[in-house]
Amino acid sequence: MKEILQAPYIIELVRTLTNMYQHGWDERNGGNVSVLLDEAELKEYLDLTNVIRTIHTGFAAPELEGNYFLVTGTGKYFKNVQYDPANNLGIVRLTEKGTRAELLWGFTDGGRFTSEFPAHMMSHVARRRVDPASRVVMHCHPANLLAMTYVHELDEVKFTRTLWQMCTECIVVFPDGVNVLPWMLCGTNEIGEATAKKMETARLVVWAQHGIYGAGRDLDETFGLIETAEKAAEIYMKIAHLPILNTISDAAMHQLEQHFGVKARDGYLQ
Ligand code: 13P
Ligand code: ZN
Repeated sequence: MKEILQAPYIIELVRTLTNMYQHGWDERNGGNVSVLLDEAELKEYLDLTNVIRTIHTGFAAPELEGNYFLVTGTGKYFKNVQYDPANNLGIVRLTEKGTRAELLWGFTDGGRFTSEFPAHMMSHVARRRVDPASRVVMHCHPANLLAMTYVHELDEVKFTRTLWQMCTECIVVFPDGVNVLPWMLCGTNEIGEATAKKMETARLVVWAQHGIYGAGRDLDETFGLIETAEKAAEIYMKIAHLPILNTISDAAMHQLEQHFGVKARDGYLQ
């Protein structure tokens, strides 16, 4: 059996969480990440018959039965993950229609997965229906996106168009746009269901006055989505109070679509 701390998915997640912390997106225990793992790549590092304990999920997700997830722990600080991955992270297998999670590794102090597990698992289901290669769900609290939800209308078309107008490459990185949920109580099945519904049409979902969710095929892609949207929000927050003299026109957006071979979300451009 190979050493689990040397597994590429653990190394990459630890590096990503550290980077997220360094970007200021994850104060204290803010944020959570889950990664769908392959049984084959896991088997080389873990005895999959050795269940440490079983944790109730509090929801059903029959589509995910038998799937394995590497996930951050609730109350854990991203800044600390690099020093103690086995305490701050866990690997679970969902069983009994997703109502139970078998802990196979991690959460060594008796902890459990993030309180946002419902939003993560329901988002995986929704994204994998659209793109079967989708494997990562990431949540964090980037300051400028959050700030924007206080001063910008939450209308999804308007919010998306503003972000697209802030940097030339936004429309290339997230042509599907950004969906937005109004403020809701976090850590509940309700916000999980609402997030998953929004994930049917976009890989980015803003939680007003809270943060953002991203979904993608790997950690780099998902991190890059949030990074790009947050950069755009930063520019918006720098200029929103100033007279705006120039912008990126819809005609220019159409040129970008053609040049980069992307298709902007239907109805979002004139
Ligand atoms: P957890 O510590 O439970 O992951 O919660 C952090 C968070 O960002 C809640 O939205
Ligand atoms: Zn949060």
